[in-house]
Amino acid sequence: MSDVDSLIVELRALLDEALEAVEAAADEAALEAVRVGFLGRKDGRISGVLRGLGALDPEDRPRVGQEANRVKEALQARIDEAEAAMDAAREAESAPDLTLPGRSPRIGGAHPVSRAMDEIWSIFRALGFTRARGPEAETEWYNFEALNTPLDHPAADEQDTLYLEGGGLLRSHTSPVQIRTMLAHDPPIRILAPGWVHRRDTYDATHTPSFLQIEGLVIDEGVTFVDFKATLAEFARRYWGAGTRIRLRPSFFPFTEPSAEVDVKRVVEGPDGPVESDWLEIMGAGMVDPAVLEAVNIDPDRYSGFAFGMGPARIAMLKYGVDDLRTFFESDLRFLRQFAGVR
Ligand code: DAH
Repeated sequence: MSDVDSLIVELRALLDEALEAVEAAADEAALEAVRVGFLGRKDGRISGVLRGLGALDPEDRPRVGQEANRVKEALQARIDEAEAAMDAAREAESAPDLTLPGRSPRIGGAHPVSRAMDEIWSIFRALGFTRARGPEAETEWYNFEALNTPLDHPAADEQDTLYLEGGGLLRSHTSPVQIRTMLAHDPPIRILAPGWVHRRDTYDATHTPSFLQIEGLVIDEGVTFVDFKATLAEFARRYWGAGTRIRLRPSFFPFTEPSAEVDVKRVVEGPDGPVESDWLEIMGAGMVDPAVLEAVNIDPDRYSGFAFGMGPARIAMLKYGVDDLRTFFESDLRFLRQFAGVR
């Protein structure tokens, strides 16, 4: 075999070897290694073969040169192809799959307790109440003493109330907002004060250590027990339905005199038409004790009023027939979704 022929055979063998290496390359880095290994100007194996060109007769050189160019072009074309295929595969992996079914938007809904709060608030707003707020970290004076509750009263016991290090406590009810409101504003006062309260309660079906309350307070000249009962009866009818009746049971709270537990009896759909439900307790209430008015420098001979406190979670439980308070806190969408459209 002439020198020319053997160089050409060598070039073709190199091409075969290089094409196999391209086939075997798993990624771009492997492809680049093939390119450098065969086509590299300095150390590439094809350039190495061409170095033997100088030993040939000048008239033989073009044949070998042409063959070398053909081999280089074929290899470069194959590498380009393989690179393009790798690019396409990578793109396909990250591209959205337009054949997947679409995602429908999720529509949010109010939490059943928020819903109860909103409905209760809108009823009292329509009755002329405004909204008030107070801090959750309170002092003993606002939470107990100004509310005619001595610190040796069982309610003030450490077993029930969460005291803060360095003084103060987490309010155990929203009633201190009564005191803050009466200190900040002269009568007439008609407020509704929703908010979180905290007690050392165990978490069970009817208790959570933190829970919401809604406090109401009305103070004006000439407010009587009739206004008290009529306001709560009107609230009950608007919230629970027109046929709802209320009942006041004698009770005791240090800050009201007389005090009452308020029960409602609703008209509900029975199997043979409307029937009355059992009595359900919905709140504590009473006429504001004169001692409370005195604590905030409001003249009890001139002004009187009533107050009430309810738990909207309890009210939502009664309204929606939920028997475990904890379900309101567990954020289980299967449970919560049922109420999103319920009134
Ligand atoms: N503060 C009472 C409690 O947490 C609830 C309450 C009862 C509030 C009677 C009132 C009221 O305003 O008049 O148990």
